[in-house]
Amino acid sequence: MIAFSLLLALATLLVGLGLAFVASRMPRMWAQVATLALAAIALPLGSVMVGGALMLNSGHDITVLAALIAAALAALVGVWLIGRRLLAPVHALQRATARISSGDLSARTPEIGPREMRELGSAFNAMAAHLEELQDARTQLVAWASHDLRAPLASLQAMLEAVEDGVAPPERYLPAMSEQVRALGDLVDDLFELARLDAGSLTLELRNVPVTPLVESCVRGVEAEAHARGVRIVSAVPEQLPDVICAPDKVERVLYNLVTNALRHTPTDGAVALRVESEADHVLVSVEDTGEGLSHEALGRMFDHFWRGDRARVRDGARAGLGLAIARGLIEAHGGDIWAENRSDGGARISFTLPAAAV
Ligand SMILES: Nc1ncnc2c1ncn2[C@@H]1O[C@H](COP(=O)(O)OP(=O)(O)OP(=O)(O)O)[C@@H](O)[C@H]1O
Ligand SMILES: [Mg+2]
Repeated sequence: MIAFSLLLALATLLVGLGLAFVASRMPRMWAQVATLALAAIALPLGSVMVGGALMLNSGHDITVLAALIAAALAALVGVWLIGRRLLAPVHALQRATARISSGDLSARTPEIGPREMRELGSAFNAMAAHLEELQDARTQLVAWASHDLRAPLASLQAMLEAVEDGVAPPERYLPAMSEQVRALGDLVDDLFELARLDAGSLTLELRNVPVTPLVESCVRGVEAEAHARGVRIVSAVPEQLPDVICAPDKVERVLYNLVTNALRHTPTDGAVALRVESEADHVLVSVEDTGEGLSHEALGRMFDHFWRGDRARVRDGARAGLGLAIARGLIEAHGGDIWAENRSDGGARISFTLPAAAV
């Protein structure tokens, strides 16, 4: 009796494992689930029937068979319903993936089905949106870069042709040509820096550095321009300041861009101020001016690649609208923040933070 029970249990186990193996090798999800559901019902009922028939021959075979068929049918309907709910999002995801891989980055999948499938759909859509944003940004970058490279190149070509045709002596255009070549060089350097920032391949040589010399060197660098524009330049740096952890040449570059921007936007007799404050675990640096301040659009877009507020007025390609995009990339690479705001008494304030070194 015990030997028979053990034999029956062993046979059920072996058949069950065999069915599970077959189910796991099936190519379709619904077929796997259906096979498993049928096995889960048919196996216990089958072994009960075999056991009953051999031991008691109870005559209730028909009843047990009817129950088996009903349970199997119920399982099949259940599998069909669940399968439909599972397969609809899978098929939608397949279609969206095919569209994306053929280059249509606007493809999205409906976020339907059980929670796991909805989460998968939402993660897929977020990934597609991110890819689309990157693609748009790249297209825009190439368009603007080629536009800004073309302007000085066309002007260089025109000047060269004038010299070649003997229309003008070389000395007449040499200073302008050297200015255009410098502008082109700056633009290419900026593009290279941006590309490295975007790709995350910029390695910063971080050191513990006092902020004061950085500010002083920046003020010295723009003093002549400030004087020429009739703008006062002041700095307010407290005596006791922790060092900051930074790559000094990169921070100087950021400061220089902020201060030259401020100078350009400050009318004669105005002032540009560099302020430094120590706050919790970081140092806050602000560049303030008494210019026209920032429009709503500027506040939203001034850190974008190639955005400049006075695009129409700039024809010589000397200003690319990359300074703040690079500044943001550099400050974020240091683990700091950078932002812009309007001052309550007029003018703009651009601030950034740098991590303070442990004292
Ligand atoms: N202090 C400021 N006051 C008013 N507008 C500003 C100020 N600083 C920046 N802006 C606006 O933000 C735009 C973007 O500045 P950003 O430094 O990125 O570019 P840019 O100075 O025009 O060119 P680049 O720095 O590449 O030579 C500027 O064109 C200007 O319209
Ligand atoms: Mg600038």
